[in-house]
Amino acid sequence: MRLFFPPFALVAAGLLPFIPERNVVSLVGDGWTVSNNALNVSVPASLPSQVHLDLFANQVIGDPYYGLNDFNLRWVAWSNWTYTSLPIAGLSSNVSSTWLLFNGLDTFTSISFCGHHVASTNNQFRQYWFDVSTITTSCDETERILSINFGSAPNIANAIASEPGQETWPSGVQQVFEFPNRCFIRKEQSDFGWDWGPAFAPAGPCIVDIYRQGQLNNLPPAQDVPWVGNASLDYFGQLPAGSILQYTLKDMQNITVASGAMSRVNQTNATVTGQTTIAARLVDLWWPNQLGNQTLYYITIDLVSASNTSLTCVTKRIGFRTIVLNESPIAQDQLAQGIAPGNNCHFEINGHEFYAKGSNFIPPDAFWPRVAVERMNQLFDSVVDGNQNMLRVWASGAYSPDFIYDLADEKGILLWSEFEFGDALYPIDPAFLDNVREEAEYNVRRVNHHPSLALWAGGNELENLELILVNQSAPDQLPRYMAEYETLFLNTLLPVVFGNSKSISYAPSSTSNGWLSLNFSNAKPMVERYYNLTPGSVYGETDFYNYEPSVLYNDSAYPIGRFSNEFGYHSMPSLQSWQSQISAKDLSFNSTTVMLRDHHPPAGLLNTSNTANASIGQAQMTEAVQLWYPIFQADLYVSEIEFYRRGSGLPNRQLGSLYWQLEDIWVAPAWAGIEYDGRWEVLHYAAKDIYEHVIIAPYYNVTTGNLSVWVTSDLWQPATGTVTFAWYDWSGKHLINTFITTILQGYNLTNAVLYMAVEAVSSLPNDNAFRTFRHENFFHPTALQVAQLVNPGLNLTYSPTTQNFTVSATSGVAAWVWLDYPAGAVLNFDSNAFWLLPNETRQVSYTLKSDTTNGGWINGVTVQSLWNQTLPL
Ligand SMILES: *[C@@H]1O[C@H](CO)[C@@H](O)[C@H](O)[C@H]1NC(C)=O
Ligand SMILES: *[C@@H]1O[C@H](CO)[C@@H](O)[C@H](O)[C@H]1NC(C)=O
Ligand SMILES: *[C@@H]1O[C@H](CO)[C@@H](O)[C@H](O)[C@H]1NC(C)=O
Ligand SMILES: *[C@@H]1O[C@H](CO)[C@@H](O)[C@H](O)[C@H]1NC(C)=O
Ligand SMILES: *[C@@H]1O[C@H](CO)[C@@H](O)[C@H](O)[C@H]1NC(C)=O
Ligand SMILES: *[C@@H]1O[C@H](CO)[C@@H](O)[C@H](O)[C@H]1NC(C)=O
Ligand SMILES: *[C@@H]1O[C@H](CO)[C@@H](O)[C@H](O)[C@H]1NC(C)=O
Ligand SMILES: *[C@@H]1O[C@H](CO)[C@@H](O)[C@H](O)[C@H]1NC(C)=O
Ligand SMILES: *[C@@H]1O[C@H](CO)[C@@H](O)[C@H](O)[C@H]1NC(C)=O
Ligand SMILES: *[C@@H]1O[C@H](CO)[C@@H](O)[C@H](O)[C@H]1NC(C)=O
Repeated sequence: MRLFFPPFALVAAGLLPFIPERNVVSLVGDGWTVSNNALNVSVPASLPSQVHLDLFANQVIGDPYYGLNDFNLRWVAWSNWTYTSLPIAGLSSNVSSTWLLFNGLDTFTSISFCGHHVASTNNQFRQYWFDVSTITTSCDETERILSINFGSAPNIANAIASEPGQETWPSGVQQVFEFPNRCFIRKEQSDFGWDWGPAFAPAGPCIVDIYRQGQLNNLPPAQDVPWVGNASLDYFGQLPAGSILQYTLKDMQNITVASGAMSRVNQTNATVTGQTTIAARLVDLWWPNQLGNQTLYYITIDLVSASNTSLTCVTKRIGFRTIVLNESPIAQDQLAQGIAPGNNCHFEINGHEFYAKGSNFIPPDAFWPRVAVERMNQLFDSVVDGNQNMLRVWASGAYSPDFIYDLADEKGILLWSEFEFGDALYPIDPAFLDNVREEAEYNVRRVNHHPSLALWAGGNELENLELILVNQSAPDQLPRYMAEYETLFLNTLLPVVFGNSKSISYAPSSTSNGWLSLNFSNAKPMVERYYNLTPGSVYGETDFYNYEPSVLYNDSAYPIGRFSNEFGYHSMPSLQSWQSQISAKDLSFNSTTVMLRDHHPPAGLLNTSNTANASIGQAQMTEAVQLWYPIFQADLYVSEIEFYRRGSGLPNRQLGSLYWQLEDIWVAPAWAGIEYDGRWEVLHYAAKDIYEHVIIAPYYNVTTGNLSVWVTSDLWQPATGTVTFAWYDWSGKHLINTFITTILQGYNLTNAVLYMAVEAVSSLPNDNAFRTFRHENFFHPTALQVAQLVNPGLNLTYSPTTQNFTVSATSGVAAWVWLDYPAGAVLNFDSNAFWLLPNETRQVSYTLKSDTTNGGWINGVTVQSLWNQTLPL
């Protein structure tokens, strides 16, 4: 993070629920002051917030995202900041106890109330509650002032790192961006900077588990047995004798589907757990986007006393689905189908294998208080519109708040969720592990009821990167660091997941070769495979980056695995977006400001006198464009997704591609397909197209010069149909009608382009209706950078009646036709970055997401193609 370590997000504070005479006073809102005496700063503040946002709102600092402010404002992160409330009114004096509850204090705080020290905290990802009953009763209403001192996270991280006897790692293992020592503290790891984002370092349960009878984590359950609903409530104090748990299940129309007493399966001094079975026929299943309906229910759990009064009651919105990351060994019947030996690595929803299509979700803002529901709603609409069904919620950001899971539940977006560890190894002293255990318990229990939760993974790039770096740097120390890795990821995090839930799978590392054995009768149920590989067998996930631009179209360069969870190449955001965060004089490809906002590749601490790294990233983009053309990024992703999807029908039985990355955290060179304000880049349109159910795609073997064309479908029913091929030259002359290799040998194809299209009939999963699926694609033997393109004679019109744009090519083949629109609106076209054949006309509709131009943006729409002519409307 650029050093805005704004110390924190105080998301909510109030009295603790789950005690009978509760009276909740919210501390969210205005009436706060943020101050630093040494710096002589004291300004009004509002919760939830972060220091940078309050300082910006009061004009103490400029926009943290503007220009080079992520360097210039680092002093904020190196300082302590104190948030002070007005006297808290409304605390009833006739309650037996008063508690302070915090959901998200980022990160190091010292809390005082009525002038008394209450507690200190050190983990952004935990929920904290403190009993302040004694303080409250001995304190006058006017003295009930809450004060929270946020320590400087980078200072504290450095201090912890330099404690005597502190853990160290071999050189090159810990990935460092803008601030060092992030691994020692439990704070959003990307607050310390990442290759796509700035560094600002902001400072700041009841579980319901729905699973199939007999289900165990990580294993496919039977689908023809009843559901089990398990609920466990935390409570304080003495549970009245004879109290029982009751449940009511309602559908979204509030019609009761089932209700009754739950059987008490367990009770400790702090938790009571009840269970019930629910007949399968009573409920409809929840399915991800494109695979069926997102049917949801409400379940209410009531803790009822012997005299039949409700002690506490909690309602969660749930869905009935099973989701498993199946990493079991390839079975005999799979071998008989031609699947290569090794292990599976795919998801199964309600017992069905499916192709996971999606991308990686990073924190949408360096300042979480700015992440509003409306903005996330818009972003997730773009995920659905982009034909995606899964997002990997990348480790090293923050655990997503419930409203993000709620939106995902409604829209059918599966969230592969991760604990916040990545690209580093972590300490394993008992205090650190206890802190992590509390953090994991809280978050696992908090989100388990969401049907969109697809997986818990321990962290990012651990087995495929960190342990390998140890082996390179200090091979003799590998056993020690592997043992430490297991202490955290297999002996600490796994028991939290398996202990709280039966419905969700766990994988210690995102990108791994999966488990070698899984046996629930062992104290340590999971043994990792690590690098224990047999040639000819295929195992887990792939994570692939190669910044040598010649990899494009070279299928031999792409990895063969069961599931691709990361791949990509960076590119520039639009001029419209750049203009919102840098000044006009800096608007050139390699200006100092642009270069310093390019944080790729990560190599050592980035600061204003170290532009060496940034220039590598800028050079890679330049080389790619010089070798190919400006659409390089999108075309590379298309080429990889085609390759991975074709693998679904090959022995590696590849069943997922999640590209890096869905969206931007600010405006800078990065991998995103959606810009900071919601604008789609070419990549998101191109991904939408290649994530259609049925696709046709060319595969060119650069060694032999042979071209093959494959049709791939991710539907569950067979698809039948026809394909069409036609060769053109760039002027649009039709070279040959049918694709007959022998005839083609007579042609010089250097300046030819092959049109291919498929039209197939099949049906969507969970839908019996037949429908037609169409897809088209183009192949050009020569890089478009050197192809002799001709003016395609584009024509653009808009009809206010149909509210559609019409684009046509009148005099040639138009490659990568691009409709652009001015700043001030955010929208997406239903298709863009497409090709047009001569005399082809396409209607383009749009979805408007926000508009400050009062419709004026329509007059600013332009069209261009790679031939490089921009035409106004
Ligand atoms: C800064 O905050 C830390 C953590 O709360 C605390 O230990 C330290 O004393 C504070 N320093 C000042 C000058 O307030
Ligand atoms: C269901 O009940 C809740 C709570 O009483 C209410 O907010 C909601 O509007 C109701 N929904 C319908 C569809 O009636
Ligand atoms: C009851 O809960 C305790 C504490 O979480 C746990 O150790 C024990 O295994 C549980 N018993 C059952 C039967 O689930
Ligand atoms: C519950 O019991 C455990 C072990 O006996 C103890 O450590 C813990 O403090 C108790 N919790 C409460 C809330 O009383
Ligand atoms: C999905 O929902 C639609 C609209 O409510 C309904 O017509 C259809 O039958 C549902 N499909 C399934 C498989 O439940
Ligand atoms: C290209 O063809 C060569 C020679 O037949 C073959 O060895 C290679 O595997 C092919 N490459 C791809 C990616 O199919
Ligand atoms: C930008 O700078 C890099 C690094 O010096 C250089 O390799 C690249 O060619 C430059 N790109 C442009 C478009 O000037
Ligand atoms: C094909 O045409 C291109 C450009 O017109 C030319 O450079 C190349 O030599 C030709 N190839 C053959 C085999 O004639
Ligand atoms: C562009 O399209 C419009 C509407 O289809 C048509 O009237 C006009 O003649 C076209 N212009 C050119 C230059 O082809
Ligand atoms: C507008 O364009 C969309 C997308 O091509 C198309 O489905 C729709 O039929 C068009 N509307 C009209 C009225 O032509």
